[in-house]
Amino acid sequence: MTTYTSSWLCPSNIALVKYWGKRPEQLPMNPSLSFSLKKARTRTTVNLGPSNLRRLEFLFEGKESPFVARIEKYLDKLSIELPWINDFSFEISSENTFPHSTGIASSASAFGALALCLADLDRQISDSEPEGDKFLQAASRLARMGSGSAARSVYGGFAWWGKSAVLKGSTDCYAIPVSEQIHKSYFSLCDAVLLVDSKKKQVSSSAGHELLSSHPYRESRISQANQTIEKLYELMQADRNRMAFIDLVEQEALSLHALMMTSTPSFLLLKPGSLEIIEKIRDFRQQTGLPVGFTIDAGPNIHLLYWQEDQEAVRAFIRAELLYHTESGAWLDDRVGDGPVKL
Ligand code: PMV
Repeated sequence: MTTYTSSWLCPSNIALVKYWGKRPEQLPMNPSLSFSLKKARTRTTVNLGPSNLRRLEFLFEGKESPFVARIEKYLDKLSIELPWINDFSFEISSENTFPHSTGIASSASAFGALALCLADLDRQISDSEPEGDKFLQAASRLARMGSGSAARSVYGGFAWWGKSAVLKGSTDCYAIPVSEQIHKSYFSLCDAVLLVDSKKKQVSSSAGHELLSSHPYRESRISQANQTIEKLYELMQADRNRMAFIDLVEQEALSLHALMMTSTPSFLLLKPGSLEIIEKIRDFRQQTGLPVGFTIDAGPNIHLLYWQEDQEAVRAFIRAELLYHTESGAWLDDRVGDGPVKL
């Protein structure tokens, strides 16, 4: 039997409108919109060898990792539609380009990279050639089955995942690229990730998504997320009102945390340092008039969003005012990126 191999570098992404709440098969309760990062990426290689029983060896940064159990489950799930998965031994090795133990979720880049390898192996094994859109749609779908947010990581620039009346072609099954519709100024957005706390999250995103199912604000959350994504998408097709963009993005991030705080059980993920940083960002914006704001995922770290042209002033502000509130003066300097690369 032949052996096959595939290797991809896939970025993480940061959501401007968050995916929060899911239905079975990892389908989202609301559409989400994100951009891929330039520096935070995962590099994964999958080698398939002949075997009459599927075997899996997984190394993360050269070492065995407990993530292997999640990959095993993932392969089980995918083997229903990709039966060749059961006919090989898998050797998977993976590494991140960003420091670990930073509390930065890497499941988007991890499953993005793995799904790209699997979609690529599928076309090698089935000797078919889905190219361009179709290939990335297939990869996005596979990525979604591993981690919802990973569905958006297979594209560079901006991606939308989830069905919406305002975007033709949008679907819950996979993400689609929307970079062509977004004004070019948004491609110079930067993301300074301020690392407030690197401890393991108190709530896994899976558990968090679960909490929305019986949440008293469930229906209003779904309708608010739809309204926010519509407004944001319209706004981002021109470069008319950066402050309105910042307001919407901040409101959306705080809505996610408000949902977590008011869930049963309740989760309070923001730390005193997160709140200090939020307040300082708002003061800085008021004092300078610069369009600088934040978004936050399901954790305490603050993603400071700003335009590249304001870099000098913003970096001086980070150094002078914000690093003090981080865990060890650490931050990641990232920005909108170009998307995955086949190695
Ligand atoms: O992909 P998951 O299941 O880890 O969920 C990600 C959830 C958020 O990061 C909070 C929001 C998002 O859309 O990325």
